[in-house]
Amino acid sequence: MKFENPFLLGSGPPGTNGKVIAKSYDLGWGGMVCKTFSTDADKVINTTPRYAKLRGRASEEVIGFQNIELISDRPYADWLDDLRQLKKSYPTKILVASIMEEYRKESWQRIAREVQETGVDAFEMNLSCPHGLPERKMGMAMGENPDIVEEVVGWVKEVARIPVWAKMTPNVGNPTVPAGAAVKAGADGISMINTILSVCGIDMKTLRPMPTVEGHSVPGGYSGQAVRPIALRQVMEVARANPGLPISGMGGIETGFDAAQFFLLGASTVQVCTGAMLRGYEIISELTEELSKFMVDHKFASISEFIGKSLPYFTTHHDLVDRQRAARELKESARAKVAAGRDVETWKGDIARETTDLVTN
Ligand SMILES: Cc1cc2nc3c(=O)[nH]c(=O)nc-3n(C[C@H](O)[C@H](O)[C@H](O)COP(=O)(O)O)c2cc1C
Repeated sequence: MKFENPFLLGSGPPGTNGKVIAKSYDLGWGGMVCKTFSTDADKVINTTPRYAKLRGRASEEVIGFQNIELISDRPYADWLDDLRQLKKSYPTKILVASIMEEYRKESWQRIAREVQETGVDAFEMNLSCPHGLPERKMGMAMGENPDIVEEVVGWVKEVARIPVWAKMTPNVGNPTVPAGAAVKAGADGISMINTILSVCGIDMKTLRPMPTVEGHSVPGGYSGQAVRPIALRQVMEVARANPGLPISGMGGIETGFDAAQFFLLGASTVQVCTGAMLRGYEIISELTEELSKFMVDHKFASISEFIGKSLPYFTTHHDLVDRQRAARELKESARAKVAAGRDVETWKGDIARETTDLVTN
């Protein structure tokens, strides 16, 4: 896939229909992963409210965002029309279809066959939504189980004629295990991370958890700035375990400098969801400017020059201790040499003085 720039909008509210996707292309995004859809929208019933925000203590800035939003509730046929039309109007922009189905081979293969006919560039298999859908054994219920990941990715790969990315959940101990299962089944790339299971907070007046729907709530998916360190760690681990694997990195990217860190840890494209929800589609111009500035400052002519550049500097804790000890020893021996050198200089000075005394006397 050839991207005008490496910034895609991540699956979610920024890509809910053809109209807003077209707007994002007009503003300069290199690609879009549309909101996840399935063949059966009737089962999708959203609540209001479905978002909660965590703000900084000293400012009103939103640092974390929680949602209990489900996949798209738009009819499947509408999605097929929108995707077809978008590819006709924007042939050079990358359009990735985010798809999700129940644990049935026929359903996954049907959606893959029909959606690729629209001309989309790739699939992103949503194996990672952490709320609502797992109750139907979808999303994260699949993505946290490596055997199921391998089986379901294998089903889609049997029929797909376009690249298939598997979108992984961060809600696992070792992200390289399910990602490895997707790669084993033939996934062409990994998207990560989806949201982190969370309870955003309790309303201190009502004592009810948020977001509060009729006095009640469910744990939701956490995103935004606060999740970036977790996303970076997981991308790093998967990149180290799978050299050369295309990774579309996301989780808390709001600036071009944030994006650069994902590239340095092995991602080859990045996605932005919450950042665009909070600050608007227009941030694309800032993102590209900041990434360009980073590249100029470091004299990088292309992104491929720095993909994974920081990966070699991760090691074990044991190795850190050894390196620190070796560095300390080196410093001490240098200091000893300098001290010895100073002794020699003093001695030379003494001799010179004594010689002068002898001559003058
Ligand atoms: C309101 C909301 C809805 C989302 N819906 C989807 C979805 O339908 N499919 C999906 O794969 N990810 C979905 N996500 C997850 C994002 O695509 C992304 O993986 C995650 O939010 C981390 O990136 P961010 O911090 O840039 O938002 C959603 C996120 C939010 C905030």
